[in-house]
Formats: sequence, C-alpha cells, structure tokens
Amino acid sequence: MTRLVVTGTDTDIGKTVFAAALAGALDANYWKPVQAGLDGGSDAARVAALSGLSPSRILPEAYRLVTPCSPDRAAAIDGVTIDPDRLVPPAVAGPLVIEGAGGVMVPLTDRLVFADLFARWRLPTIIVARTTLGTINHSLLSIEALRRRDVPILGVAFVGEAVAHSEDAIVRLGAVRHLGRLPILPALDAASLAAAFAAGFDLEDFA
Ligand SMILES: Nc1ncnc2c1ncn2[C@@H]1O[C@H](COP(=O)(O)OP(=O)(O)OP(=O)(O)O)[C@@H](O)[C@H]1O
Ligand SMILES: [Mg+2]
Repeated sequence: MTRLVVTGTDTDIGKTVFAAALAGALDANYWKPVQAGLDGGSDAARVAALSGLSPSRILPEAYRLVTPCSPDRAAAIDGVTIDPDRLVPPAVAGPLVIEGAGGVMVPLTDRLVFADLFARWRLPTIIVARTTLGTINHSLLSIEALRRRDVPILGVAFVGEAVAHSEDAIVRLGAVRHLGRLPILPALDAASLAAAFAAGFDLEDFA
C-alpha cells in the first residue's frame, strides 16, 4: 500500500499545499505526526480544506504543540516530552501521505532530527523544494542528509515558477528524479490546486 513522506528544504515552502494536492489525487489519508504552532490553523485543517478529502481521511496528529517553533522547543514550552516511539505511521486502509515539520534537520527531541525519524520508517520520501535562488544548496544538502541515513528518496517536487537551470542542477548533482512542479497559484483553492497538480505531475510516479 502506498505510504509516502513529504519533507522539504525549509519551513513555509509549500509542503502542506503539495501534500494536500497529492493526498487528494491519490484519494489518500493524511497524517502530520507533530504540529508545532496552532494559531492560524493546523496543517491538517489546511489539507482538509485544500484536498477535497473527507474529514475522516485527515488523521489526528500524535502531538499538537502550541508554539510555532521547532518541535523539541515547542514541546518543552508545553511541558511535553516527544516520544519518538509514538511517531509510527498509523495503520490505515488505503494510501497515506505523511508531512514532516520544517526541513529534514529540524529537531524533534534533544537527540533526534526528522531525518532520523524518516530513517526509522524507510518510506519513499519526497523533497519539496522552491525554484527560487538558494534552492540548489538547500536541496542538495537535504538530499545528502537523507541519503546518509539510507532514506529512500522518491524525487523532488518543485514549487514556484520554472527555473530550468536550478531544477536541472538539483536533478543532476543530487541524482534524483524531477517529479514535477506546482506553480504559485494566485487563487489557491481545492479546484485550482487539483488542476495544477494534474498538469504538473504524473500520478503514476507516486503509486
Ligand atoms: N503552489 C502554491 N500556490 C500558492 N500559494 C502557495 C503554494 N504553495 C504554498 N503556498 C503558500 O505558501 C505558504 C506556505 O505553504 P505551506 O503551508 O504549504 O508550507 P509548509 O512547507 O507546509 O510549511 P511548514 O513548514 O510550516 O509546514 C502558505 O501560505 C501557502 O498557502
Ligand atoms: Mg506544512
């Protein structure tokens, strides 16, 4: 059964938007293991709105932390200890799309970063990357961190206007697959997102 991890080169680059599109296209379940920051709505709520999936497909987070910062710090502020053994992908019927927080080297605990958690799971992992300046460096560093931990990389999903040189450099130097690209949508909603995903990606690459 299809289980995919969506990570990225940074926070705020479009992981949730991409994950919503992917989960919607696959008619999947969505799970965010750790939500840090509850003001302004959770990623799960955003996916519910943007994917068109029924609310039952949006699985509850293992940890919901109040403060918008790295999970280790957010947990400390809330007086919570994150137990990595609780961060196990839920057993569900049907496909599952999992979204990490921030990028691959974001701390979950004093000793564990997200890439370490992904290494436990060994699920095909998608790196969401901007196309704007700086993305080659961030993307290649993310790829190295995952490879070093033997995390299987499915490929890179780009977000932004097409920048052929940067996208080509990441694919060539990182030896990764270019899965597709989502443009920045001026009117972002479930319909425009589904259309952009269908135009920019091949669903078979994720099956
Ligand atoms: N393709 C897109 N078109 C239009 N807006 C987008 C697109 N992708 C992302 N955005 C906007 O950019 C912001 C950040 O996107 P998103 O929440 O998906 O980032 P993220 O990587 O999931 O962040 P976090 O690390 O907090 O989980 C949001 O306001 C979102 O609506
Ligand atoms: Mg997100």
